Amino acid sequence: MDKNRILTGDRPTGRLHIGHYFGSLKNRVKLQDEYDTYILIADVQALTDNFSNPEKVRKNVREVLIDYLSVGIDPKKTTIYLQSMVPETAELTVFYSNLVTIARLERNPTVKTEIAQKREVFGESVTYGFLGYPVSQAADITIMDGTIVPAGEDQEPLIEQCREIVRKFNSIYGDVLREPQILLSKEKRIKGLDGNEKMGKSLGNAIYISDSPEEITKKVMSAVTDPNRITKETKGDPDVCMVSYYHNLFSTPEECKTVCEECRAGKRGCVACKKQLANNIIEYLKPMREKRAYYEAHPEILDKILIEGTKKAKEEAKKNMKRIKKAMKLDYFE
Ligand code: TRP
Ligand code: SF4
Repeated sequence: MDKNRILTGDRPTGRLHIGHYFGSLKNRVKLQDEYDTYILIADVQALTDNFSNPEKVRKNVREVLIDYLSVGIDPKKTTIYLQSMVPETAELTVFYSNLVTIARLERNPTVKTEIAQKREVFGESVTYGFLGYPVSQAADITIMDGTIVPAGEDQEPLIEQCREIVRKFNSIYGDVLREPQILLSKEKRIKGLDGNEKMGKSLGNAIYISDSPEEITKKVMSAVTDPNRITKETKGDPDVCMVSYYHNLFSTPEECKTVCEECRAGKRGCVACKKQLANNIIEYLKPMREKRAYYEAHPEILDKILIEGTKKAKEEAKKNMKRIKKAMKLDYFE
């Protein structure tokens, strides 16, 4: 096993969709065989913009955990834990808060974008907690001594900020922390069923890993196709059609070739094309739905996974906190 450690996570604010699957979960399943892997369910971070909705966060901890397990994240290989149950993270956040300026946080592009998008939560003035979440994320990573953070492009400014904190810390207190690196997912972002660059709950254009066959069919039927096609005989352009785009993710190469050829030749009806796609997505996600049903029927297994993962993460956090406090001369009565 490599000396590197993977640390990544998600805010439990909703169920995960196929954008998450192709963009990161699939890769995590592969990486867990090569690396010591930790995944945190970031409930404290989720509260930074959902502070008045604790029920939502609580409910989604379970949903996200089931999503992880149903796609094949294996708790024997990956330590899955709850952020709030490792209070060393919060402690380290306080220590790091001296090493970051407010101006630097305000310049963080990801934070900036999010604040602009969350006017309905924050109004004119953002909370201290939200502005500071990059500091807490730096603590998430370094308290576990994480060195590789598989994540999407949107997380790049956060990892960069973490690296700056690490360098600052080491320059003052000695060489204690390792600088993590982002591992950008090679997959490009999956577009929504409506052609939007982003897939999301608020946009209503996402297929969830947990969607039922009926939900999948309904969503695929409403997907955006080539707007110039009037009848089946109209020659189509699969390059501007979301159904064809999704065939490329869920159908065999032969099927994709036929879809394109028949569409261009005006020999394929959009309804039939969509039905075929819906069936392929239903089949693709079937093993995940079955696993989900199993875990939903066995909540005690879910609890056990989180309890054990959190126990292991806490031990790791304690160990690293000891080194950190020693370096900061906070090791009283040791
Ligand atoms: N910011 C991540 C998100 O928006 C969640 C997260 C919290 C995270 N702590 C992390 C990701 C540490 C990677 C590493 O979903
Ligand atoms: Fe899209 Fe298929 Fe219709 Fe062509 S036939 S426009 S690929 S749905």
